[in-house]
Amino acid sequence: MTITVVGAGYVGLVTAAVFSDLGNKVFCLDFDAKRIENLKRGKLPFFEPQLDDYLSKNFSQKRLFFTTSYSESVPKSQIILVCVGTPPKENGEANLTYLFNAVEETAKHLSGYTLIAIKSTIPIGFEDEIESAAKKFAKTRFEFASCPEFLREGTAIEDTLHPDRIVIGTSSKKAQKVLLELHAPLGGERIICDTRSAQLIKYASNALLATKISFANAIANICEKTGADVEKVLSGVGADKRLGRSFLYPGVGYGGSCLPKDVLAFAAVGDHFNYNFDLLKTVHRINESQIDFFLNKIKSAFKNKSLVSKKIGILGLSFKPNTDDIREAPAIKIIKRLIQEGAEVTAFDPKANENAKQEIPEVIIAKDEYETAKQKDCLLLLTEWPQFIQMDYEKVKTIMASPILFDGRNALHKEKLESMGFKYIGVGR
Ligand code: UDX
Repeated sequence: MTITVVGAGYVGLVTAAVFSDLGNKVFCLDFDAKRIENLKRGKLPFFEPQLDDYLSKNFSQKRLFFTTSYSESVPKSQIILVCVGTPPKENGEANLTYLFNAVEETAKHLSGYTLIAIKSTIPIGFEDEIESAAKKFAKTRFEFASCPEFLREGTAIEDTLHPDRIVIGTSSKKAQKVLLELHAPLGGERIICDTRSAQLIKYASNALLATKISFANAIANICEKTGADVEKVLSGVGADKRLGRSFLYPGVGYGGSCLPKDVLAFAAVGDHFNYNFDLLKTVHRINESQIDFFLNKIKSAFKNKSLVSKKIGILGLSFKPNTDDIREAPAIKIIKRLIQEGAEVTAFDPKANENAKQEIPEVIIAKDEYETAKQKDCLLLLTEWPQFIQMDYEKVKTIMASPILFDGRNALHKEKLESMGFKYIGVGR
């Protein structure tokens, strides 16, 4: 098949990489000419494991093409996969400017029956507006479908190749057939439904993941007040197969480009349809307050709770390991607050140093994890990269000014560190 993927962001590039690798001819289109030029030269806009290899292989074998031109790509394509960003507005609603633009430009260049499948997360209720915007420009027949994406950063290629489910949201039999054929080489359950249900599957999935994390954080806070150990409590809870342990890991809260945005956007959808989605508003509030709880712990470790001139080392800047993405990263929020309180912050991340330095010029970037710890009054683990967990903590203890460790991910071995003489402070344990 010939496909145009509109949007060379996270979802777009991974989708283009995988579908070209499966043997399709894929145009990956973005209006950002510089990004497209860089991609042609093999320069990626972000780090994602395996993506580089997939893109360069399929580009050099001429199955994958990068372009800014709708006229070059759309008329040749049977399927358009719209993967543009839908970033949040101030009020939490999704900004659909890029989406409308992508759909209108696509519609202008259609030639023959084409399926336009939206992979971007869009608020329920907008599909009719988007379809009529396209109809204004389209000279040939087209159909719409919603085909949401569930990939995670850090494992995006694997997630796309081995999905749990493929959601096909359209009532058109012809469109269903085209999408089933496109996804035929991939595993996972097929869920065929109307467009609104498809969009709700995406929102509800991300909302439930966020709810589990905020629930785990709430339990951690109760554990702290009652003297219980949250890791034991949640292991006990997760042993029940009906509940499971995944996404029940407490810490400094969830970040990234999806969960924070989608929780707020889904709550805004509720408001729009006259349903007060209080549960999600609370999920968001708990996530925000994890940062305050964690900062209070740090302040409590110092005299008069003052962080003025305290030298603080930070391990990890990305919102989770295996990515350089710092969007909504708890580490970034915490560093900003520490600097506001007068602390001197040194940080290190295997991939996200440059992004963090751009966002917070005051942060000192260390050359590695040991330099981050050197002569510090305390050390904070904020992203659980394996190299931080496997550090030589005997050595770390000797180089720190004072051996205080704050584990914002409950990823370190508490008892072992305490027996070495560290003061260990985790979350809910
Ligand atoms: C998420 C969804 O998992 C994915 O299906 C969707 O397509 C996009 O959004 P992603 O943003 O890549 O993926 O990150 P994810 O792995 O879900 O983690 C989100 C955040 O939650 C991270 O900051 C992570 O550290 C945090 N988290 C995760 C916890 O704090 N505790 C947990 O138990 C799990």
